[in-house]
Amino acid sequence: MDKKDLSDNILPLTATLEAAMRQLDKGIGGVILCVDLTGKMQGMLTDGDIRRALLKDASLNDAVQDAMNRSFVSGNASATRAEHISQLGSNIRQLPILDAEDRPVDMVSWAEIWRMPVTEPSLGGNEMKYVVDCIDSVWVSSQGGYIDKFQQAFVSFLGGGDALCTSSGTTALHLALIALGIGPGDEVIVPDITFGASANVVIHAGATPVFVDIDSVTWTIDPEKIEAAVTPKTKAIMPVHLYGHPCDMDAVMAIAEKYQLKVIEDCAESLGAEYKGDKAGLVGDVGCFSFFANKVITTGEGGMVVSKNAALIERMAILRDHGMSKQRRYWHLEAGYNYRMTNMQAALGVAQMERISDFLCRREKVVELYNRRLGKIKGIGLPPAAKWAKNIHWLYSITVDKEQLGIDRDRLASRLMEEGIETRPVFPPLHLQPAYGSGRLGRFMVAEQLADRGLCLPTSNGISLDDVDRVCVTIEKIVVDERALQQHRDTQGMKTG
Ligand SMILES: Cc1ncc(COP(=O)(O)O)c(C=O)c1O
Repeated sequence: MDKKDLSDNILPLTATLEAAMRQLDKGIGGVILCVDLTGKMQGMLTDGDIRRALLKDASLNDAVQDAMNRSFVSGNASATRAEHISQLGSNIRQLPILDAEDRPVDMVSWAEIWRMPVTEPSLGGNEMKYVVDCIDSVWVSSQGGYIDKFQQAFVSFLGGGDALCTSSGTTALHLALIALGIGPGDEVIVPDITFGASANVVIHAGATPVFVDIDSVTWTIDPEKIEAAVTPKTKAIMPVHLYGHPCDMDAVMAIAEKYQLKVIEDCAESLGAEYKGDKAGLVGDVGCFSFFANKVITTGEGGMVVSKNAALIERMAILRDHGMSKQRRYWHLEAGYNYRMTNMQAALGVAQMERISDFLCRREKVVELYNRRLGKIKGIGLPPAAKWAKNIHWLYSITVDKEQLGIDRDRLASRLMEEGIETRPVFPPLHLQPAYGSGRLGRFMVAEQLADRGLCLPTSNGISLDDVDRVCVTIEKIVVDERALQQHRDTQGMKTG
């Protein structure tokens, strides 16, 4: 492991608390290492130490030596990494490493050895057994019994339609666009906030994505703004059920009907979500799912197209298999693709579908606990929840109001990371990104505001309620620290102002 650069963490004993607060933002690990004139470490200072000092009437002009913690734990530069790690624990999150003269030369952090991922797959059911079965049977490519089983399990979970496995969520979307005849010269309406694949596939089909702002309640495409984006070239709308919350599909379908547009539901993040009691995916012409490892179920990589239109499924099946005729071997009806899923991936999918109800049930408990705890914190906005929607919370996502919370989204994320808790910012708006115009397409205010404030918290299928509790406690602690500091800054400002 390379040594860390501690230059932004080290301050002399006489530096002020105000200087320490500024350094805390720049340095690593949320700690200041206080050194004497010879560079010898004499104490350690955290946000919490500053807050406690200020509560005891210290001033921001006081020296760090008055507030620092003198009885800190440190590691010896001559010890091994394993020995350093063994010194970390629930009370020791950052271990400064000192040389023979007690000068800080490195730091080992709790976050390096313990990490709560924002999401990770749960593969402890029949996943291994079914994959081994594929290998034993030598059906490892895209033929074999698990493909049909996975598709059938999917259809029965959705409660209708037909399903076809694909190699990814992206290829599912591309296949849908091509099968619906969308190509050069056409426009497809896409929400401004989604993962880039939703727009990329439109471009790869030769068409143009036209972005529409999102709705502040559902975070999904704002139906009231769709009509203004319709032109004679518009061929389809791609509603994206973002982070597990369905779009207002009645409104989307009404516009589609009025202008004779196709509707491709991007359900990559919404397996199990419901719109007015119907599962997302079967409301539009075609629904496209992703089984990337961070999704509600995973097949490693993989995807699925679903539709109630059997002819469309048939056409997608041909396009997916090189455009070959089902009747005549090696006879290409059109230039198709190889977008097939392997039997081994489908085996994972079958095992995952056996557990989907458990996954969704657990998510409900996780969401209930997050909502109960975080709902009490002024400045944290809870995830979207329209009355007609079942949000499956692919990623439990909050908004951070800096004015009310006393800390902005990015700082909250980095402070959580220091504690080993991973988060993700909400997707940046597409219209601002180099691939799609770098901001030349105008302003999308709701999307821009959400992108500045939205934060996704850990939401794995296997996350325990204790882990959720830990995330909430950590947020509460960070907020208390930051608010106390902010309050103190304000009163100091009033005194001097
Ligand atoms: C909204 C959305 N659309 C499309 C995709 C693409 O899916 P995949 O990664 O399986 O290609 C993803 C996920 O990665 C996604 O989140």
